[in-house]
Amino acid sequence: MQLHLSTWPEVEAYLAKSRAILIPIGSTEQHGPNGLLGTDALCPEIIGKRAGDEAGILVGPTFNVGQAQHHMAFTGTITYRPSTMIAAMLDWAQSLTHHGFERIYWLNGHGGNIQTITAAFSEMYHGITFSKGEGAGANHQPLRCMLRNWWELAGVNDVCRQLFPVGEGHHATPSEVSVTYYGYPEAQKKVEMHPKIAPLGPIYDAADYRRRFPDGRIGSDPSQASVEAGEKIVKAAVKAVISEFRHFAES
Ligand code: NI
Repeated sequence: MQLHLSTWPEVEAYLAKSRAILIPIGSTEQHGPNGLLGTDALCPEIIGKRAGDEAGILVGPTFNVGQAQHHMAFTGTITYRPSTMIAAMLDWAQSLTHHGFERIYWLNGHGGNIQTITAAFSEMYHGITFSKGEGAGANHQPLRCMLRNWWELAGVNDVCRQLFPVGEGHHATPSEVSVTYYGYPEAQKKVEMHPKIAPLGPIYDAADYRRRFPDGRIGSDPSQASVEAGEKIVKAAVKAVISEFRHFAES
């Protein structure tokens, strides 16, 4: 069940049964020569939507821009500054709590978002607690948030390692590209890559990133990506999301 494809009476009826919602959150940033700019937003969206369809979980709109400053030397990347992202997440959470939601499960697709998401949670707990007039340190939190990176879902890493024992790497991985190809087979790209496996190294600013990693990949060979691999990864991820979301909704 997707919020943007539902009517307000349908969401009102859902709230009578559950106070929990899943929000996919990611980034719009370069993902190498054959990875889509939307990869980090599409992965949690594809997994979240399937979990929603299978288990009747309400899935909100995708928060699809994140922390991508270090990818800005590659065309098409869009980034928030951290303060903008925190403010926007706070407004989403306040809107949802206004309607009665008390549990927000943020399914994340971008490692670079983690610190900012965590800071946004602190801001939410502070702001929402104060707006309810309960003061800092109140025992009752009307809102509880949870962050889960999709690649850390139970069982997912095992599937990825089996599929891609060599060339998984750190950015523009064959696993994440496979998930997007499964979701959007018509968007697959065939690109020759040199070297076959991209170099590894540290990340500093955007210009330095492009010097070290000229085609955008870090340590990966995403030419191995396939629809079939994506299907296996999504299947494992959906199973884990459903179980974890149910647990969280009842917490
Ligand atoms: Ni990514």
